[in-house]
Amino acid sequence: MTRFTSWVVGILLPLQLAYTSSAIDYTPIQPPSYPLAVRNPYLSAWLPGDQVAKLPTAQPQFWYGNNLGWSVLANVDRQTYNLFGVSRPAVNTKAATVVKASFTSTHSIFVVTAGNAQFTLDFFSPVSPKDYVRQSLPFSYLSITTATTNERPSDIDIYSDIDESWTGDKANSCSNSVSNGTHLYEFSANGATYSQSRTELALWGKVVFAAHQSEIHTLSSMSGPSEATRAQFQATGNLTALSQGDTCQTGGSYGFAYRLGLIQKPATVRYAVGVVREDAINYLGSPQTHYYRSQYSDIPSAVNHFFDDYDAALKESNDLDASIKNTGTDLAGKNYSDILALSMRQVMGGIDLTIPADTLNTSEVQAFIKEISSDGNMNTVDILYPALPFFYVFAPEYIRLLLDPVLKYLKSGNYPNPWVVHDIGTNYPNATGYDGGNDERMPLEETGNLFILVDAYEKATGDKTWAKQYDSIWPGYAVYLDNYGLYPSNQLSTTDGLGAFTNMTSLAIKAAVGLSAYSSISGQQKWGGIGAAFAATILVPGTGTANSSITKLPYLDLTYGTKDWYLTFNLYPQALLNLTTFPSSIFESQSDFYPTVRSQGGVAISSNALWGKTDWDFWVAATSSEKTMNMFVDDVWAYASNKKNTQPFSDRYYVKGDKEGLAEFRARPTVGAHWAIWALVKGPNSG
Ligand SMILES: *[C@@H]1O[C@H](CO)[C@@H](O)[C@H](O)[C@H]1NC(C)=O
Ligand SMILES: *[C@@H]1O[C@H](CO)[C@@H](O)[C@H](O)[C@H]1NC(C)=O
Ligand SMILES: *[C@@H]1O[C@H](CO)[C@@H](O)[C@H](O)[C@H]1NC(C)=O
Ligand SMILES: *[C@@H]1O[C@H](CO)[C@@H](O)[C@H](O)[C@H]1NC(C)=O
Ligand SMILES: *[C@@H]1O[C@H](CO)[C@@H](O)[C@H](O)[C@H]1NC(C)=O
Ligand SMILES: *[C@@H]1O[C@H](CO)[C@@H](O)[C@H](O)[C@H]1NC(C)=O
Ligand SMILES: *[C@@H]1O[C@H](CO)[C@@H](O)[C@H](O)[C@H]1NC(C)=O
Ligand SMILES: *[C@@H]1O[C@H](CO)[C@@H](O)[C@H](O)[C@H]1NC(C)=O
Repeated sequence: MTRFTSWVVGILLPLQLAYTSSAIDYTPIQPPSYPLAVRNPYLSAWLPGDQVAKLPTAQPQFWYGNNLGWSVLANVDRQTYNLFGVSRPAVNTKAATVVKASFTSTHSIFVVTAGNAQFTLDFFSPVSPKDYVRQSLPFSYLSITTATTNERPSDIDIYSDIDESWTGDKANSCSNSVSNGTHLYEFSANGATYSQSRTELALWGKVVFAAHQSEIHTLSSMSGPSEATRAQFQATGNLTALSQGDTCQTGGSYGFAYRLGLIQKPATVRYAVGVVREDAINYLGSPQTHYYRSQYSDIPSAVNHFFDDYDAALKESNDLDASIKNTGTDLAGKNYSDILALSMRQVMGGIDLTIPADTLNTSEVQAFIKEISSDGNMNTVDILYPALPFFYVFAPEYIRLLLDPVLKYLKSGNYPNPWVVHDIGTNYPNATGYDGGNDERMPLEETGNLFILVDAYEKATGDKTWAKQYDSIWPGYAVYLDNYGLYPSNQLSTTDGLGAFTNMTSLAIKAAVGLSAYSSISGQQKWGGIGAAFAATILVPGTGTANSSITKLPYLDLTYGTKDWYLTFNLYPQALLNLTTFPSSIFESQSDFYPTVRSQGGVAISSNALWGKTDWDFWVAATSSEKTMNMFVDDVWAYASNKKNTQPFSDRYYVKGDKEGLAEFRARPTVGAHWAIWALVKGPNSG
């Protein structure tokens, strides 16, 4: 562009220029959606990737897709700039210019310029599976660092607010307080305990927005209509603090302003946003609360601790980010580490880590996982199963923490069916069980999964005592697999979107591998023998295998005696857990087969589907040749970076047809499956 045209454009179209003149640097990719504050199923704020280009007016969203109000403004030398989330800019404000958007496994970072200043907005959601206090704190950080872009000092004020959309309804109570330098607003819709809005926000508990005073700035606050709070910030750079008589007003926004004054060196201010549910989970009638409450019983002390914990949390996150990047790249290239970085917060963001709300006994820690977006069920066994590699790598005890609530329920005898239950509650966070036996019926799927998960836990931790308390229930499930596993009756499996099948080869494989896993758990060889006998039958030509005219080798079919195929992810646990059910040559023939059935957008889940599953892609990639593994990794990467989707990462996407490249689910913790390659190569506790 010549100087002349740039001058003309600059005069005529200043606003558009801000959005389009310079290319934004997206590092490492422009994902479907950026995690902003993603810690548990009710603190799950995202920014659709296509909104980065208009960051000043962008609308953050809850995982469900409904808008959440969250803005950032700044005064630079008395001019007000909208940096983020101001959907209706006020008169005499300007839009900041977006320079860069990046993400790591724990941070989403946006850089904008405004006047002589540059602002870095760092949305940081810690992922700390081993530190139960840090992991369970239901808050995320927003840190804003400002620096001048030239030699001259600039006069800077920074403002951020959130609004009542975070409560899922009208907020009908609020309060503000100051303690130990932490200023906070708490507000609530005061809905029934454990009730959700239509978009699955928590209607109970408290939404929290907080800021922290330090020596380098003054901090002020104000609640009320956002037009009024922002206008006061624009006019004075200062709000009406609690100490000056600000009383909390519902019906609008809750804002904090930091006045930095003239600054020349970079300076940082910090906010915390969160959703506190003191009764977090209803487990069979007993309220469970977040683990951190064993140490920080009220909201002010928890938020104070959260601010105090920043440096330690940041150090942990930097180490984790580096590990994801380096190990991921070493294992399967940069495309792999990009996918892992995008998946990390989403896995733990589907989980609540709890203790009993009455005793706060930390020996009774449990974990609950939500089947986000596909049905909202609790601790679905075939959700834990795909996520297994993540837990195996970072904290294998989560297999126990997540399964224990399921096993206690099964051991109670209140579930009437002879197979393993699908989940423990239709609507998170109510784990009310299925005493009528009326859960989504997946007998072989869940029974096989249970043994594989328990064996993975024992092998990864060396702990053989935990499972002992359930010795009374294991044999019945082993007998069930033995009786019904080889010729599966018409039933659903984990990919229930495909419908039910009779003689589904994958379910027979699951039964075979599950029986072998039970053999390790119980120390009884007989079950491994039954599993191996199942495998031999499955492999009889014309039963579970068909011949490929391209590879000239047999491949595992979808149902017995057909030429249809299905991804054989159920073989992966055999490799992970050193089982010997199937001959290892099966991994090679499957690895050669997948490239022959690849569609343009990737390999479908089966010959009769238009869509694929990224979770199972990684399970089969892990046991494939390097070439086939790279094919799966690169196809998932191409889908993740295709800019056609705007929802939190979906593990289900179309690989062909009119919808090729489009996604269907949102924010499911099943993306823990993406660590399958890592888990197999590096082993347990290698994260
Ligand atoms: C959970 O159960 C309570 C009643 O105990 C009910 O008010 C609430 O709506 C339920 N939550 C969901 C998500 O169904
Ligand atoms: C801004 O607010 C702070 C905190 O309430 C107060 O101490 C200070 O005097 C105010 N400054 C101006 C310029 O109004
Ligand atoms: C404030 O700090 C004191 C001293 O460290 C501590 O005892 C108190 O619990 C803190 N209060 C809150 C609400 O965090
Ligand atoms: C805490 O729970 C453990 C495990 O259930 C139990 O052994 C212990 O007695 C409990 N502690 C208290 C103080 O109740
Ligand atoms: C399942 O497969 C077996 C062995 O191939 C066959 O005998 C049986 O008829 C099949 N069941 C059904 C319902 O098709
Ligand atoms: C596949 O090919 C092998 C070797 O040619 C043959 O023995 C087997 O019967 C074939 N299987 C089927 C299902 O046609
Ligand atoms: C599987 O066997 C390999 C080689 O003997 C060993 O290094 C690994 O620890 C074993 N894995 C498990 C889960 O037992
Ligand atoms: C990543 O995947 C894309 C799309 O499949 C591919 O073109 C590219 O070569 C891959 N990059 C690397 C570094 O492997």
